[in-house]
Amino acid sequence: MAVSKETVVTTAKGALGELGSISDALVLGGDVTVTISAKERVVAADKVRVALRGLEGVANVDVRFAEAPASRAIAEGDLLPNVKNVIFVMSGKGGVGKSTVATNLTMALKRAGHRVGLLDADIYGPSIPTMLGVEGRPFSVDGQRIEPIERFGVKLMSIGFLLEDPKAAVIWRGPMLHGALLQFLKDVNWGDLDFLVLDLPPGTGDIALTLSQRVKPTGAVIVTTPQNVATDDVFKSVSMCQKVNIPILGVVENMSYFIDTAGVRHELFGKGGGAAVAEFSKSELLGQLPIDTTVREWGDKGTPVTQALPSSAIAQAFVSVAERLVDVVDRRNAEGTSSETEGPIIDRSGGAGRKRLNVVGG
Ligand SMILES: Nc1ncnc2c1ncn2[C@@H]1O[C@H](COP(=O)(O)OP(=O)(O)OP(=O)(O)O)[C@@H](O)[C@H]1O
Ligand SMILES: [Mg+2]
Repeated sequence: MAVSKETVVTTAKGALGELGSISDALVLGGDVTVTISAKERVVAADKVRVALRGLEGVANVDVRFAEAPASRAIAEGDLLPNVKNVIFVMSGKGGVGKSTVATNLTMALKRAGHRVGLLDADIYGPSIPTMLGVEGRPFSVDGQRIEPIERFGVKLMSIGFLLEDPKAAVIWRGPMLHGALLQFLKDVNWGDLDFLVLDLPPGTGDIALTLSQRVKPTGAVIVTTPQNVATDDVFKSVSMCQKVNIPILGVVENMSYFIDTAGVRHELFGKGGGAAVAEFSKSELLGQLPIDTTVREWGDKGTPVTQALPSSAIAQAFVSVAERLVDVVDRRNAEGTSSETEGPIIDRSGGAGRKRLNVVGG
């Protein structure tokens, strides 16, 4: 039997309690969408979701927020006019966890009630099909636009979906590759999104450059590991962003430490890299993520850990990175500084000479 709107509203209200209020509810058969207003978005949305899923007759629950995030300035001719925020996840260095951060950040943004898409822009080594457990081919309804594949309520697109054998090496040359990516941005039916996260390939970023000429990103999240050898390459990608006016929204230090079974903390890769890159890029350190075997295990199994183990410490860490990112994005969009690289989000006086940066180990 279908659930009634009254039951949905009463249950959602009960679950929210003092945390917030319900502004709208829509029931279509077993599909329930509620719009809420709350400060602690992830906690509030999780509570409502769990309570509504427990109701008889409810198959899918979508929790949205009345307060939508602010939008970047969208110029005429922008390839993504209906996407409020475009976030590049990048790093000069390979293997530091860009795809891991991109997928988990995406899931955390989704859990916070945002409308989210994820584009795997790593044409040489697409990871999204594996990390989100999707295969198959996207289709087109009208013969014009490609429908993204949906998973966990997130819209996904990856070159991996279009390859005959996703494991085969792609031998395209630069221009073809860049053309394919721009095509993806333009021809995929993303719909209205609050955030489109782009998982970029490693390197100093000619792809980021090409992309940024056709779509004005809100900015980049830089991923690094704590050690010197990694940060050297990461500095280059920061400089490149600054040269081409891609604002740096913040830095995520991944694989920062490891807590063993006895609870002892080990800094396997030295420390200080994230803070050094944040200082260099005049942005904030959005978070330090530990090495946690569940990250890789769930990544390989096709469900990002943020989705698979929502109450784990590592999932909470990703949620906190997402919350800080949304704060930065809101501030930047409000200030209208998203087209400036030097916008002082944080005052870090004293100059940031690379040589003086506090990086040890590595
Ligand atoms: N915090 C973490 N704890 C444990 N394993 C992690 C963590 N972050 C990433 N990994 C694992 O490290 C490997 C590399 O991560 P990932 O593919 O996200 O890096 P990348 O920067 O996207 O690499 P590439 O440069 O090849 O695109 C993956 O197997 C991933 O599961
Ligand atoms: Mg990757």
